[in-house]
Amino acid sequence: MPADRISRRVGAITESATLAVDARAKALQAAGEPVIGFGAGEPDFPTPAHIVEAAVAACRDPRNHRYSPAGGLPELKEAIAVKTRRDSGLEILPGQVLVTNGGKHAVYNTFEALLNPGDEVLLPAPYWTTYPEPITLSGGTPVVVSTDASSGFRVTIDQLEAARTPATKALMFVSPSNPTGAVYPPDEVAAIGRWAVEHDLWVVTDEIYEHLTYANHQFSSIATLVPELADRCVVLNGVAKTYAMTGWRVGWMIGPADLILAATNLQSHCTSNVANVSQRAALAAVAGDLEAVAMMRAAFDRRRQTIHRMLNEIPGVTCLEPEGAFYAFPSFEGVLGREIKGHRSTSTAELAGVILDLANVAIVPGEAFGAPGYARMSFALGDDDLVEGVERIADLLAQAS
Ligand SMILES: Cc1ncc(COP(=O)(O)O)c(C=O)c1O
Repeated sequence: MPADRISRRVGAITESATLAVDARAKALQAAGEPVIGFGAGEPDFPTPAHIVEAAVAACRDPRNHRYSPAGGLPELKEAIAVKTRRDSGLEILPGQVLVTNGGKHAVYNTFEALLNPGDEVLLPAPYWTTYPEPITLSGGTPVVVSTDASSGFRVTIDQLEAARTPATKALMFVSPSNPTGAVYPPDEVAAIGRWAVEHDLWVVTDEIYEHLTYANHQFSSIATLVPELADRCVVLNGVAKTYAMTGWRVGWMIGPADLILAATNLQSHCTSNVANVSQRAALAAVAGDLEAVAMMRAAFDRRRQTIHRMLNEIPGVTCLEPEGAFYAFPSFEGVLGREIKGHRSTSTAELAGVILDLANVAIVPGEAFGAPGYARMSFALGDDDLVEGVERIADLLAQAS
């Protein structure tokens, strides 16, 4: 095949590792294998009934059968502004909102609208696997700032300052974090925000797990804590995680009006409006109460404690207590290099393959998040599956010699 058949830019994109693991697990399940999947980052609950009903009604309304404004239904943008005030205390105008095809699309639009070739984006690792690709695609350079369990996977200002150069344009910030489950306390959030202001940096803050925090950990929005950031802050969010709506594909970005206008123009040539039925469902979600997420949070909290305890009981595995989102991020370093049923894995990428093949359990290797030695395990799956899945891993690893 000629080298230039596919563009170099797009040809260099790797498949989303989390979706790949999920697809492999689902294919094995479809082939009759009793696979337990810790791969997917999606709630196992159905979308709440009132949201589904709003979508059914929307299907029947011919207004929704037509194109609508590329940047989002005005009612939804207004409701997002109200919801943002309610949940984060941040005052914004509907003109500062762009409704996107899921939070992932908001990440893409943001970096397309923000970066010029050569711009650097500070990217604390472990990072969500989808951040580096759109940064690179838009000509920017992700500058990875590694953290580990010793700092609770939270980046420090000293680390950020050491990585900052004259080319640094933005910081990617996420709390609660995918993949680590870390939640930054408000004083650290504020200090990072003030540091960004001091150096004229943009902050792109991904707040999609805002409602999923546990014990005494609480979400705080960098945009609210540091109002001076207003002109250089992009808030990413969506309905996927809070309302169990991963398949509906509605997210949004909030930012200064000029950036939102630029991103809306981009979207007007790429996707046009997000499907109206999904937008109407999202409207019912954000305009409603937070009862459903409270119920889901209670279930996730229970599972979080179970997975945390069970993982730490496995020799060679250590796991910090997840503080938010629905991910445990254990280290498997104590197992690497040992022989398990004729396989000697030297990386978590290899180990994840062995665990899938021999124990029928899907986990996402840390390599996908810039953190070799670790793996991500979503605990948004049923309690019984969760227990059985970790037991299977424990039984397999017990055979390591
Ligand atoms: C940190 C983070 N941001 C954004 C998203 C985007 O979610 P979606 O595109 O399903 O709205 C995800 C999904 O996994 C995520 O983990």
